[in-house]
Amino acid sequence: MNYSKKTVKDVDVKGKKVLLRCDFNVPMAKDGSGVITDDKRIRAALPTIRYLLDQGAAVIACSHMGKPAATFESYQKKQLEKGKDKASITEEKWKKSLAELSLKPVAVRLGELLGMDVLMAADVVGADAQAKAAALQPGQILLLENTRFEKGETKNDPELAKKMAGMAQVYVSDAFGAVHRAHASTAGVAAYLPAVSGFLIQKELDFIGGALAKPKRPLVAILGGSKVSSKIGVINNLLEIADTIIIGGGMAYTFSAAQGGKVGDSLLEADWKDYALEMVQKAGEKGVKLLLPVDTVIADKFAPDADSKVVKAGEIPDGWQGLDIGPETVKLYCQAVQGAGTVIWNGPMGVFEFAAFAKGTEAVAEALSRTEAITIIGGGDSAAAVQQLGYADKMSHISTGGGASLEFMEGKELPGVACLLDA
Ligand code: 3PG
Repeated sequence: MNYSKKTVKDVDVKGKKVLLRCDFNVPMAKDGSGVITDDKRIRAALPTIRYLLDQGAAVIACSHMGKPAATFESYQKKQLEKGKDKASITEEKWKKSLAELSLKPVAVRLGELLGMDVLMAADVVGADAQAKAAALQPGQILLLENTRFEKGETKNDPELAKKMAGMAQVYVSDAFGAVHRAHASTAGVAAYLPAVSGFLIQKELDFIGGALAKPKRPLVAILGGSKVSSKIGVINNLLEIADTIIIGGGMAYTFSAAQGGKVGDSLLEADWKDYALEMVQKAGEKGVKLLLPVDTVIADKFAPDADSKVVKAGEIPDGWQGLDIGPETVKLYCQAVQGAGTVIWNGPMGVFEFAAFAKGTEAVAEALSRTEAITIIGGGDSAAAVQQLGYADKMSHISTGGGASLEFMEGKELPGVACLLDA
């Protein structure tokens, strides 16, 4: 994939209407109060928004939020799949579910952060959006309603894409978190307008794309998280690129079991043992150093107050489960990070949400904070861990995309990037 894309700086936006796709899919309080619990993604879009407004553009911002059912029929289907009784599924409940995924709270927060009014449209391409977009003046910003309220959005419907494009003269995408989706607002619309990236996508492409295409070596990849099945694509791709791959987290137990170790009640994906062995073999063939835990912290239950002790990897008694890498493994992994040119980290080393089992993840984060290497943290759990442990400002780059950064590291083409003009 070509990571070198035209940016907002390569187009003249003065006096033009710019359709700006952001990823405002922010976490909201579960009580339906509309309180945004983490506004990082809104803040991440500010440099591009400010630049466009300063250049005299009229900004029509849009984003998805959550996974709403765009029609009552699809809502009904989802609820029936969840085992709900047909009579209890009403249009009123569907409308309430949509209201909870409105972007109105985002417009308010964005206005506070920008220090200006953010106009809000009641729909995406309906009469309200069209009228407000038509009246929008240079230096003003309008936010359209949740793009997934339109049923054509996730189907990448060309009619919807054309209608969205019809409101503007330039398309800017800064929605890195959604570039792995081939949807009307993330990819389809680029067929009808000059399409360029914003500063956030550019930064993600520079860091992640740079590390994959031309890493400063040695390149060390630290891969954790609970499931081998969800990381297999990343391991496979990084085996072609990295000098060292470090495995931690729950998925290490599948590797251990595959090599004949005893894993007790630890997380195990029995169906993936053969793949794990294949990966070990492939690493050997490619000359990639693959590091697996040598010891592990085990617990007698999955709970923050569980009894715990350290045992050698592959020697976990029944009734116990591994919840973190052990102290010898920590030493080994931290040594591997020292002297790296680039470190990519995706997935925690243990159950870092429980203080007693956060030591492995914390030690790795600390080692990354001290290294001279370029440090790139994948979105999702690893980003949350680094933030929670207080090392966020010590990393070179923390990705804003969970699924997107994972697919990027898998070497897949990202439709929301591929559709932008090449530089
Ligand atoms: C994310 O939160 O990872 C992005 O906003 C993409 O959301 P999606 O998984 O609902 O497409």
